[in-house]
Amino acid sequence: MSIKEIFTTMEYGSASENSDVAQEWLANLNNTFNHYINGKWQKPKSNKYFDSNNPANSIHIANVADGSAEDVDQAVLAARKAQKQWYAIGGHARAKYLYAIARQIQKHSRLFAVLETIDNGKPIRESRDIDIPLVARHFYHHAGWAQIMSTEFKGFEPLGVVGQIIPWNFPLLMLAWKVAPALAMGNTVVLKPAEFTSATAVLFAQICDEIGLPKGVLNLILGDGKAGQAIVEHDNIDKIAFTGSTQVGRLIRKATAGTGKKLSLELGGKSAFIVFEDADLDSVVEGVVDAIWFNQGQVCCAGSRLLMQESITDELTSKLVARMKKLVIGDSLSKNIDVGAIIDASQLAKIKEMVALGVSEGATLHQANSIDDKNGCFYPPTLLTDVEPASTVAQQEIFGPVLAAMTFRSPAEAVQIANNSRYGLAASVWSENINVALDVAPKIKAGVVWINCTNLFDAGAGFGGYRESGFGREGGKEGLFEYIQESWLTKLTTKTTKAKESKKTTKNANPAISIDQTAKLFIGGKQVRPDSGYSLPVFDASGVHIAEIPDGSRKDIRNAVEAANKAVTWSGAAAHNRAQVIYFIAENLQSRATEFADRICQLTGKSSKDAENEVNLAINRIFSAAAWADKYEGQIHVPPQRIVTLAMKEALGNIAIVAPEEAGFLGLISTIMPAIAMGNRVIVVPSRETALLATDFYQILNTSDVPAGVINIITGDRESLTDTLAKHYDVDGFWYWGTAQGSKFVEFESAATMKRTWVNHGKLYDWTSEEQINSDLFLRHAVEIKNVWVPYGA
Ligand code: NAI
Repeated sequence: MSIKEIFTTMEYGSASENSDVAQEWLANLNNTFNHYINGKWQKPKSNKYFDSNNPANSIHIANVADGSAEDVDQAVLAARKAQKQWYAIGGHARAKYLYAIARQIQKHSRLFAVLETIDNGKPIRESRDIDIPLVARHFYHHAGWAQIMSTEFKGFEPLGVVGQIIPWNFPLLMLAWKVAPALAMGNTVVLKPAEFTSATAVLFAQICDEIGLPKGVLNLILGDGKAGQAIVEHDNIDKIAFTGSTQVGRLIRKATAGTGKKLSLELGGKSAFIVFEDADLDSVVEGVVDAIWFNQGQVCCAGSRLLMQESITDELTSKLVARMKKLVIGDSLSKNIDVGAIIDASQLAKIKEMVALGVSEGATLHQANSIDDKNGCFYPPTLLTDVEPASTVAQQEIFGPVLAAMTFRSPAEAVQIANNSRYGLAASVWSENINVALDVAPKIKAGVVWINCTNLFDAGAGFGGYRESGFGREGGKEGLFEYIQESWLTKLTTKTTKAKESKKTTKNANPAISIDQTAKLFIGGKQVRPDSGYSLPVFDASGVHIAEIPDGSRKDIRNAVEAANKAVTWSGAAAHNRAQVIYFIAENLQSRATEFADRICQLTGKSSKDAENEVNLAINRIFSAAAWADKYEGQIHVPPQRIVTLAMKEALGNIAIVAPEEAGFLGLISTIMPAIAMGNRVIVVPSRETALLATDFYQILNTSDVPAGVINIITGDRESLTDTLAKHYDVDGFWYWGTAQGSKFVEFESAATMKRTWVNHGKLYDWTSEEQINSDLFLRHAVEIKNVWVPYGA
């Protein structure tokens, strides 16, 4: 037998990682995990525990404390008590703690890796070579951010106490993604790991204890969804950060609506893995292995939809099937295996059910060999071909090692299929032609796009999604904004009077004859009558009925959103060109400044000097937006690999704006302009009192080359228009300035489509303040950050 033959026939020997170190650690804890609250290990108040087992062999690992609302309460109290001092010790002191944590993680990396593997079922190669090194890197990187916080985030402060709820697929890594930025920015934490995987979180808390992290800074609550819910609902928590299913994300969005809690959600995905015909197919095959068979496919950003250009379908499919059959599945502690165990029998059952459904819907099944092991939760790597883009397995997250393959003909069709998903977490694009890859990447609605690579992560690069994949970013500078706020925001007062507003809301289907003007809506660049045919009266400051404004309705909003959809080229236009249009708006407003000032006097009773000032300030705001259009640029991150990551800022899409009632014309301009400067199209509901100014503004828009559909203005009843906008599927972001109740409504209703919201909770902004209104707060809310990973090397 030749050596070559021996290599092909030889069985892999066993090379199991020794787990003694983990067993000893577990034995020292009596195989029992408790909460870590205020620097102490504490039994659950209920005295109840549940079992946690190794999914690869069903062997019992530990009894896990079953946390309840009482435990959470204690942890929140401890975190609240510790927070002021934790921030007050300063960035340098916090940096030293985070640095010490990173060092300890490296020192104990083998124990962490083994524990993670026996707790989660993932291959030891992955926990050892991917999870744990990334965790250490995360703490080192964020130690740096703590150090430079005071200069890099001048004018910002921590949020306070943050509640963090994480899933089971990357237990320690998800903990690091949450804890490191929160602590770096001076917050204290109450964290709950997933019920299946508490072990490495317990070890992490031990390490924090050992390095002397002040008590109360990190609190660990173990338990299931009940404990998670108690964190979400606790009224002394300032922010919730969640990673997990879209279903629970939605519940959390609803539960936190109107509470003023900041929220970031990292939810599910159905990421496209797009292969063009000029791609290096052997690299593609290894890419697919990393995209969908890594971590048994239990990865939120797994490349679970394979899109192949038609001409390479047969060749790529046969290469994939051949490679898939060589994957070794089995005991997670074995250093030889590629695919470990599925987290739990319930998840295994779900995967089986989804694959059976795919086959019944017409897919062809290709599967690797599995192992027959009654004690372990194993599922073989699976490829489904002949999948229709609309079928269940192409649309729903399976969260297992199952790849759904389909084909496309042109780059445009690839983009269309890739975007045909309610999710928007990640995508990979494979092509040796850099022009094609860099053309396609920005067109895909996803927070991360990997070019000729996949499933790469780094502490310095943001990660997070669009649409039903959630909102907010983790990692990089962009991720830190989730844990800080502008200091002035905390000092705003709440609106109390509504008297003026209610006086002027009488409906009038039959305008009085003395009225000199009936304005129209502004949709798709045209002035149009409202669908209802109704109008609302406009009074001057002395209460005289001077005009009518349209009473816009659901149908008008629908038309406005459609018009905004058609104006999509605005988002792709060169920022320089957008700036020119916006400067032109300012120029045209300037030439009619007196007319607008007179109208302000008429409607609000302001002195002509104040009205003039308001118009001048509005012109100033327009100039600022134009100035920022081509200057609020992205960044280039430099992860440790030979890769550049382009953090590109792109428009959200369609933003609904309910302008501040109390800020009239200035409020209208100050909100519209930054949104369109960043390439968004807007559907705006102006203030009721000064809506006539918005309708006067149409003429300026018509003479300023603003493309049809970029700005749409619907006057009418703010509450019912808010209702329709909040529920509309094609509204990507919602900016709302109004009552606390209205803010709650917007946040609650946005849960159905997971649109990004920005609401004022009834607080009053100072619209004349440079600090508040000309800050980059508006710009941050107007963009999504997409991280495009581009590897290099000859
Ligand atoms: P899940 O979303 O139920 O659990 C994630 C975390 O949320 C866990 O810590 C859990 O205890 C907690 N939780 C559950 N209900 C809660 C509630 N009402 N309020 C607050 N916290 C709550 O995810 P699960 O059940 O573990 O997995 C179900 C599916 O979710 C998977 O099949 C997969 O499709 C998806 N998933 C997505 C993940 C991602 O990274 N995007 C991670 C884990 C699961």
